[in-house]
Amino acid sequence: MKDENFLKENNARHLWHPMAHPADSISNPPDIIVGGEGVEITDVDGHRTVDGVGGLWNVNLGYSCQPVKDAIAAQLDRLPYYSIFRGTTNDLVIELSWMLKDFFEEDGLSRAFFTSGGSDSVEIALRLARQYHKVRGESGRVKYLSLKKGYHGTHTLGASVNGNANFRTQYEPLMPGCYHIPAPYPYRNPFAETDPGKLAQKCLAALEDEINFQGPETIAAFIMEPVLGAGGVIPPHESLMPGVRALCDKHGILLIADEVITAFGRTGAWSGSRLWGVRPDLMCTAKAITNGYFPFGAVMVSDEVAEVFEGDKSGKGAIGSGYTYSGHPVGAAAAIACLKETERLQVKDNAAARGTQLFDGLTALKEKYELIGDVRGGHGLMCAIELVADRESKTPIDKKTIGALHRATYENGAMVRVSGNNVILSPPLVLNSKHVDTILTALDAGFASLG
Ligand SMILES: Cc1ncc(COP(=O)(O)O)c(C=O)c1O
Repeated sequence: MKDENFLKENNARHLWHPMAHPADSISNPPDIIVGGEGVEITDVDGHRTVDGVGGLWNVNLGYSCQPVKDAIAAQLDRLPYYSIFRGTTNDLVIELSWMLKDFFEEDGLSRAFFTSGGSDSVEIALRLARQYHKVRGESGRVKYLSLKKGYHGTHTLGASVNGNANFRTQYEPLMPGCYHIPAPYPYRNPFAETDPGKLAQKCLAALEDEINFQGPETIAAFIMEPVLGAGGVIPPHESLMPGVRALCDKHGILLIADEVITAFGRTGAWSGSRLWGVRPDLMCTAKAITNGYFPFGAVMVSDEVAEVFEGDKSGKGAIGSGYTYSGHPVGAAAAIACLKETERLQVKDNAAARGTQLFDGLTALKEKYELIGDVRGGHGLMCAIELVADRESKTPIDKKTIGALHRATYENGAMVRVSGNNVILSPPLVLNSKHVDTILTALDAGFASLG
């Protein structure tokens, strides 16, 4: 490794960071993380903190998951790469697809299409949805519906169904045929509705209105996160996703669950769809599938959708999508080991218990600090606090204050993530109650330092 001075001097000078302004990265250089152990990370100055971000919602099993590391190393020696495009496969993707079929059996998903990450999974699911209707002879079904505030990665189809302006505006024009429904966000919504159940009904009414306005025969799919994540952690009322499922069924629309962050236990259930008792037609997964140690993803496909493709005699069912790294044997090896560890440790149970502790602790902080306008969570280890200049007007807090909070929290022992006026928490699912306490006391110290 280059020495500390070299790293600090060249920090952000010769690379552009995702989701950052290049000039800002130079004037506020990012923390240089050089080590990870358990659920903690260490920076170049030797400062160690609990990772309240969990890498990026993906290091669910922490940084010391030896079985995944061993599986990657062993596979690099055995077969570091081979393609699974038509005509060849590898032993590990066969095994992994069999394991995933078992893991997602309760969700009604039995086929896997492998990708290189979350944005790829979203892209594949959206493409397969259109193709499904074409194979069935409904080629007019090409449009997509989604939720405002939803995040579906940054490929152009994904950005088109994305519900946040900051991932869209500079890249417009996006894909035509994508329409958005109000988010189930009780703190701010166009209906001025604070009751989550009533708000869910209003969102569903808006969805049906849009379906009828567009014409159901023109719509391919509705895509949603079971709990909205990157848009600010917005858990919908329990009636929302079942209501969406019912409307999709009524109008022949496929339901795509974007579970890039919620699959594999984060919500306290093995999938976010299962949390709400819903069976999607397609499910996007990535991130925790390899514990973040290898870029990998899988789109899971329901039996019903699979039958349409597999029973096709016209040739239209041939899949014209895929990536060089689809089904990468090293990624598959990582995913097999990761899935075994995920199940062995039953991480969903710890996610539920520690998630409650974290949510309760954040709710207590709200009593103490006026700057906290809203606390969201309550479903596993995904929480957010929304900061406002004053509670009455709900004016979002300025960048400088939230930046200062982030810094002070970090100095006091916890890495948290700032997104707009939200602080987002998504720690590894294997953290213990002391680690949660550390995150809470670091945040408390962070708020106290703002004066
Ligand atoms: C719900 C959701 N979908 C898609 C993505 C995109 O995944 P990736 O960054 O791996 O491309 C993310 C990333 O955070 C996500 O949260």
